[in-house]
Amino acid sequence: MNVQELPSADGVWTDLTLAPEACGPSSAALPDAALVVAHGHIAWLGPRTDLPAAYADLRRHEGQGALVTPGLVDCHTHLVYGGQRANEFAMRLAGASYEDVARAGGGIVSSVRATRAASEDELLAQTVPRLQALLDEGVCAIEIKSGYGLSLEHERTQLRVARRLGEQFGVTVRTTFLGAHALPPDYAGRSQAYIDLVCQEMMPALAAEGLIDAVDVFCERIAFTLAETEQVFQAAQALGLPVKLHAEQLSDMGGAALAARYGALSCDHIEHLSAEGIAAMQRAGTVAVLLPGAYYFLRDTHLPPIAALRAAGVPMAVSTDHNPGTSPTLSLLLMMNMACTLFRLTVPEVLAGVTRHAAQALGLQQSHGSLAAGRPANFVLWPVQDAAELAYWLGHKPDCTIVRQGRVVRTARQD
Ligand code: NIG
Ligand code: FE
Repeated sequence: MNVQELPSADGVWTDLTLAPEACGPSSAALPDAALVVAHGHIAWLGPRTDLPAAYADLRRHEGQGALVTPGLVDCHTHLVYGGQRANEFAMRLAGASYEDVARAGGGIVSSVRATRAASEDELLAQTVPRLQALLDEGVCAIEIKSGYGLSLEHERTQLRVARRLGEQFGVTVRTTFLGAHALPPDYAGRSQAYIDLVCQEMMPALAAEGLIDAVDVFCERIAFTLAETEQVFQAAQALGLPVKLHAEQLSDMGGAALAARYGALSCDHIEHLSAEGIAAMQRAGTVAVLLPGAYYFLRDTHLPPIAALRAAGVPMAVSTDHNPGTSPTLSLLLMMNMACTLFRLTVPEVLAGVTRHAAQALGLQQSHGSLAAGRPANFVLWPVQDAAELAYWLGHKPDCTIVRQGRVVRTARQD
């Protein structure tokens, strides 16, 4: 597919309802709205009756009463990997826990084996259908982590695939270096030596190649300690790279407070987040990324502290955490439903969670996650009456029209 050949979205889009939260915090729904796109950017939006005369003669796009949201942002994925792990799902159904599977040599390192065995082109080919599924639901910006290579060569391959996908599909891709995802088998018992490799060789080399937008660590009993996490953060800071953290997923390691001290963009999972962690995130402006897919798939019962995050005013994002071990979902809409049903987010919260706050978790808040003049045209026309429908339907693929990077990349059926 050559995205440059897709139709331009330039012109006046009419007969739209702007969704709640679409234009900024607490923005209300706006019926009978118009939106102008010029040179691939939003030039104007507001009540149709206020459309400036200068735009009146531009090409018209019929919105057919659709609800418009900003392009969705999936701010936490492990999309590039080889193989799949359905066998481990079966083991867990037979009684093993996620930690049991990991300790028995499965888990992340089994995806490492399959990822290392694939060539760059094979990894790209395996990832394309996964990316396409997310894009078909209106995702216009996505984070893709490494972490299934765990050597300089193989982490590079993963990150290169992520960059190529961004170019090939005309979608904003933010790459996150997750070299400290698991201890590779060849470093068994030598955790410090591996962290040194991550900090002193892998991260500087990959940053120099322009492959890293942010740095992440899996801080957990089955992964890396708080002290090791801090070493990785120090190396990132020295290179001027922002950090984020897989924090307090299975236990309270104190990772969120540490990450906040390093000005982290986000702390993700956070089922076991403490009051101190929440306060530190609030002070640092760190986004809480909620991952209900992993919570569901692992049959977790320890809820993230939603009420306390809400009370503290910590921005909450919602993401797929797509990965082969704990969240093999390819639907951000389904995650919206789960964030509401399992975590009790409200509709405005979940809308902000997959748009504005998700963009903030990637440092993209100036360009993505809300509709405003001057921003690149990334928006979705949904065939729904009520914004709540986006979180309400289960497993339904709405027939939406998608504008991504100023191109109409999907058009709803015209009835
Ligand atoms: O986000 N928590 C760590 N990393 C992934 C799981 C990766 C895997 O099991 O392959 C996650 O849930
Ligand atoms: Fe993850």
